[in-house]
Amino acid sequence: MPLRHIETLADDAHAFAYVAGSFELGRALGFFPKDRAGPSGGEQCILAESEFGVPVGFVTFYRADHPNYVGCVWIDLVWVEKTHRRMGVGRAMLERAIAVAESDPEVTRVELGTLSHNMRMQNLARRVGMQASRIDFVREVHRG
Ligand SMILES: CC(C)(COP(=O)(O)OP(=O)(O)OC[C@H]1O[C@@H](n2cnc3c(N)ncnc32)[C@H](O)[C@@H]1OP(=O)(O)O)[C@@H](O)C(=O)NCCC(=O)NCCS
Repeated sequence: MPLRHIETLADDAHAFAYVAGSFELGRALGFFPKDRAGPSGGEQCILAESEFGVPVGFVTFYRADHPNYVGCVWIDLVWVEKTHRRMGVGRAMLERAIAVAESDPEVTRVELGTLSHNMRMQNLARRVGMQASRIDFVREVHRG
């Protein structure tokens, strides 16, 4: 499956539209937190495309810009079309994103987060050599 590295997602209007649309679908289906923002366009992207150039999945990532995340690349969104799942696309894209991240000598670690029920993503993260390192606890505030 051909993979394409896009340095700045917003520079590729078609890819940006595909990523933003897939994010909305994934959020509606409960794969992404309901209250998080979509892609800004400033992210890097690994795009998987069919032999005809049709997008079938993506990984977005960026250098985290926060004092608690010095040297960290954050893998933000991971998505593979339903028709192309369990074919190694997610793993190939993630391995490529990690290779890009690690080619920067200032990068000391690569992180991602996923919802606690998303076992597929947790399995995939372990497959590419990542280990679970923390658990986030959330208490929703309901008003009115
Ligand atoms: C999670 C997702 C990206 C996996 O992509 P994929 O291309 O199907 O994954 P791969 O075929 O590369 O599989 C790699 C590994 O992931 C794990 N995995 C993938 N699908 C799985 C499933 N349905 N059940 C359990 N483990 C799964 C396995 O460990 C697999 O390795 P193995 O085949 O050697 O056992 C894909 O299911 C997806 O897009 N899901 C919806 C969006 C989503 O959940 N994104 C992550 C939000 S943070």
